[in-house]
Amino acid sequence: MSSTELAREALPQRIKRKVKNALGPWGVFLEGFVRHPVMVGSIVPSSRFVIRKMLAPVDWDNCKLFVEYGPGVGTFCQPVLDRLPRDGMLLVIDTNPDFIEYLRRTITDSRFVAVLGSAADVEDIVKAHGHEKADYVLSGLPFSTLPDGVGPAIAAATHRVIRKGGAFLVYQFTPRARDFMARHFKRIDSGLEVINVPPCCMYWGWKDED
Ligand SMILES: C[S@@+](CC[C@H](N)C(=O)[O-])C[C@H]1O[C@@H](n2cnc3c(N)ncnc32)[C@H](O)[C@@H]1O
Repeated sequence: MSSTELAREALPQRIKRKVKNALGPWGVFLEGFVRHPVMVGSIVPSSRFVIRKMLAPVDWDNCKLFVEYGPGVGTFCQPVLDRLPRDGMLLVIDTNPDFIEYLRRTITDSRFVAVLGSAADVEDIVKAHGHEKADYVLSGLPFSTLPDGVGPAIAAATHRVIRKGGAFLVYQFTPRARDFMARHFKRIDSGLEVINVPPCCMYWGWKDED
């Protein structure tokens, strides 16, 4: 922004921009929540305790494609990239253009791809990026507040896209996410992380069959 533009900027706008800059990624996330509360479904990003527990069961040596739904401002992205093999890919899908723009600007790792779109289209998105199947899919989607029919469609598409032996990793504030998974995944491990705002339910749905 030039000095003339800065001088012309209205005071409330200036205050909003300063607060957002001071908050860093939290400011971008909060703004996303204020604009799209139902789609974002949370006021703060996940804690590092949730991140560590959710990713613990992943077999990283056999992970070539890791997909994440609803990355928001990328709370999980760097921890996933830190664990992913050098020839792996992290493909993230979010419906919010502001989050996708932020992620493309701030994460420069060549293994990282951010797609503006819906998780319901995961199969086409995975194919468009040169893969038949995903090894793991992680979801921070607010399943219980998504528009009618979207949650079941996402759960079904996710089950189809995961390879045998892979898993669907889901974290949410209500246990309802498990109901969406249970229609497709026969074996589901579960956990709870209380050091998070609010406490977080965690599920790992394993795909044992082709
Ligand atoms: C609770 S926030 C995710 C928070 C973030 N992953 C974290 O750990 O802090 C939910 C995210 O899901 C995104 N979202 C909602 N519906 C979606 C859909 N159908 N496909 C992909 N992303 C979606 C929202 O834009 C938002 O970024």
